[in-house]
Amino acid sequence: MYTRKLFVFRSLTMPKFVINGGKPLNGTISVKGAKNAALKIFPVALMTEEPILVSNLPEIEDVKRAKEMLVALGHEVEELGGGKARLQYKNKTCVNLPADLVKKFRASIMFVGPLLATCGEVNFPHPGGCVIGAGTRPIDMFLDGFVKMGAVIETQEKYYRLTANKLKGANIFFPKVTVTGTESLMTTACLAEGITILKNCAMEPEIVALADFLISVGAKIQGAGTSVIKIQGVKNLGGGEYKIIPDRIEAGTFAIMAAASNNGEVLIEDCMPEHLEALWALFDRIGVKYKLGGSSIKISPAKKLLACDVTTHEYPGFATDLQSPYTVLMTQAEGLCLVHEAIYDRRLLFTDMLTQMGANIIMADPHRVVVQGPTILHGRKSASTDLRAGISLIIAALIAQGQTEIENIYQIDRGYEKIEERLQGLGADIERINN
Ligand code: EPZ
Repeated sequence: MYTRKLFVFRSLTMPKFVINGGKPLNGTISVKGAKNAALKIFPVALMTEEPILVSNLPEIEDVKRAKEMLVALGHEVEELGGGKARLQYKNKTCVNLPADLVKKFRASIMFVGPLLATCGEVNFPHPGGCVIGAGTRPIDMFLDGFVKMGAVIETQEKYYRLTANKLKGANIFFPKVTVTGTESLMTTACLAEGITILKNCAMEPEIVALADFLISVGAKIQGAGTSVIKIQGVKNLGGGEYKIIPDRIEAGTFAIMAAASNNGEVLIEDCMPEHLEALWALFDRIGVKYKLGGSSIKISPAKKLLACDVTTHEYPGFATDLQSPYTVLMTQAEGLCLVHEAIYDRRLLFTDMLTQMGANIIMADPHRVVVQGPTILHGRKSASTDLRAGISLIIAALIAQGQTEIENIYQIDRGYEKIEERLQGLGADIERINN
């Protein structure tokens, strides 16, 4: 957390959003490529000598960090414009992950397995990213998996050194469902000797997209999208093209934002509504007026919104990344509801800022809050503590009376491309102030 002096200095020099609430939202907004799919393709470039052409990349800070990581490891990222880039393997790979980059995003852990599989060695500090889970979000399931595949681990003060002559296939059961854990061991196992069986896997659409790409460049993977994935190791992988799937979390966030402001017609395009069934089931119960198209979602004003309990869950359950926006929506719904954040124990702390805006929220424990609505929100100064809390503060500010200032917006830029311009397109009164 920031010290006061640092906070003041930073807030004097850092950009912020200034939002005047209460403006109706009307119009069309298109969804960009998925952050949590895009970040996973850059490490794969370490596993093939052929070029990888990626398209539909979102222009967000975390993707810039992933590109910087690949270049820092000695490879080439050729920008082709319009969300396209060519990733090209170079002859010598560095095996030390730069600490300043690793600290900036959790998905940096995805570079570990491919380096271990191709160079037999990797050194890295504990990854950073959103402060939403226990202490520094653990990586024990990654490390256990690499050890099962034959790696040796040395640790010193949260710094890891992993070595392995040749990774071997293994049977790995995840004690807890983990998205990047599944993606990392699935990817790494593609170049391990023999067969790897992963059990109790995550089933997110981004995992299926990654597996489909790996198969298209020569990997042997079965079962991605189910709880059991089987990988037959191969000697090497080829190159190919990868179009990033639409960001279901961005699509869901915009749908919730439109429902919460409840004062205009919003059409969300270039998305895959079928990836958000848990949200539609909730919308049916809350009374949100929505219409699904093949690649679009239309939200219209509803007479009234009813409060409804929610528990976050692994896919296809209700996504934890939509919990913060949903909690803001519940401040505008009639009645009492329980929001149960089952995946992380620090992802409800942002509700303190909603309470300061006038919301009626009681924290029962680190995983549960009770929300009583509807309440009128009032604009005030706040700061984005993590990516999804940040976008939720924007939603709260759009429906609040008066002006809101949101600082530390780097957190929002980490996952949403040019958010203020796209919301201005819907009539929102939002400005980025670069001090
Ligand atoms: C991915 O994080 C996403 N990030 C997260 O999105 C998302 O919230 C999360 O999956 C759950 O859907 C990326 O894909 C880059 P996990 P990940 O491993 O893989 C515990 C966003 O806002 N765990 O599935 O890091 C962990 O602490 C971000 O876009 C261990 O205990 O999440 C958590 O409680 C935030 N040990 C649970 O498992 C481990 O080794 C699930 O986390 C790994 C995880």
